[in-house]
Amino acid sequence: QRVLKVALLGCGTVGAKVAHTLLTQRADLAAKSGCVLELVGVAVRDASLPRPGIPDELLTEDPAALVADSGADIVIELIGGIDPPRQLILSAIEHGASIVTANKALLAKHGEEIYAAAERKGVDIYYEAAVAGAIPIVRPLRESLVGDQILAVMGIVNGTTNYILDKMTTEHQDFATALATAQKLGYAEADPTADIEGFDAASKAAILASLAFHSSVRIDDVYREGITGVTSEDIQAAELADCVIKLLAVARLDDEGRIEVRVHPVMVPRSHPLAVVSGANNAIFIEAANAGRLMFMGPGAGGSPTASAVTGDLVTVARNRLRGVENPAHSVYQGLAVAPMRQT
Ligand code: HSE
Repeated sequence: QRVLKVALLGCGTVGAKVAHTLLTQRADLAAKSGCVLELVGVAVRDASLPRPGIPDELLTEDPAALVADSGADIVIELIGGIDPPRQLILSAIEHGASIVTANKALLAKHGEEIYAAAERKGVDIYYEAAVAGAIPIVRPLRESLVGDQILAVMGIVNGTTNYILDKMTTEHQDFATALATAQKLGYAEADPTADIEGFDAASKAAILASLAFHSSVRIDDVYREGITGVTSEDIQAAELADCVIKLLAVARLDDEGRIEVRVHPVMVPRSHPLAVVSGANNAIFIEAANAGRLMFMGPGAGGSPTASAVTGDLVTVARNRLRGVENPAHSVYQGLAVAPMRQT
């Protein structure tokens, strides 16, 4: 049976789960992908820390060397942030590796450059885990709905803030307590400012808008307001009005055919399906010209759900690689303009 070498960059909450899956479900992954997926290295910040279940000889503190020297066919990037992941991914592409990444911040800022590099080299880049954890949403926009015209995408795309707002509403917890639990449960980013100030949701909104409208939307194009200004008085006022406060991401075409993308807290009536999205769950509505209205809902954060999306991408890029095909990461044929930001 053919063997494809897999290098893993990053071994945090998601990376550790992916490594365990690769090491313990070899036969299952081989049956699904058609090849043995051999983990050849795991780049970590501190190789002296105990990593139960991961053999010491796989650990390295030198991700650049792992990418350049391991002969990896597939590189999974789960470090997060812009640098060094941008250079590592570009280097992996230059070395001919297919890429799986969960890095929303990077794709929302440098997606164009990375997709173009992958296309030039003829390798896949898959990024299902970059948006809404376990929920399949990138693939539906990239593949299943590509024959349709998307009119709007909206929803809850950050688990940490949904968890905090939910706990503030249903258990009257204060902001700090709810955030601390979200961090402990592994939902929050390394720096939770990215969650609570809406940067994480804005990155995801930019990726969704780029896919939905076949254009290049960057995080800087997204109007952004986080939840740090939401007080318990606001929560109570929403309750009195039979509403709940949710952090929503909205991407739609305005009357002039420009893309409008925003992230901000919204009073959602309790009768609305988004009002019942609890804990770290996410939910996304898509409105398409022919398909009509679709809704996707499920776990939006956390190690196992996000690892599920990464592993799905891994099997897909392995299948493509075995067949010598690659799938466009993102087709920018519409190239629509982005509407100027406006206060909501
Ligand atoms: N910090 C992110 C969230 C993780 O809370 O949604 C998933 O991208």
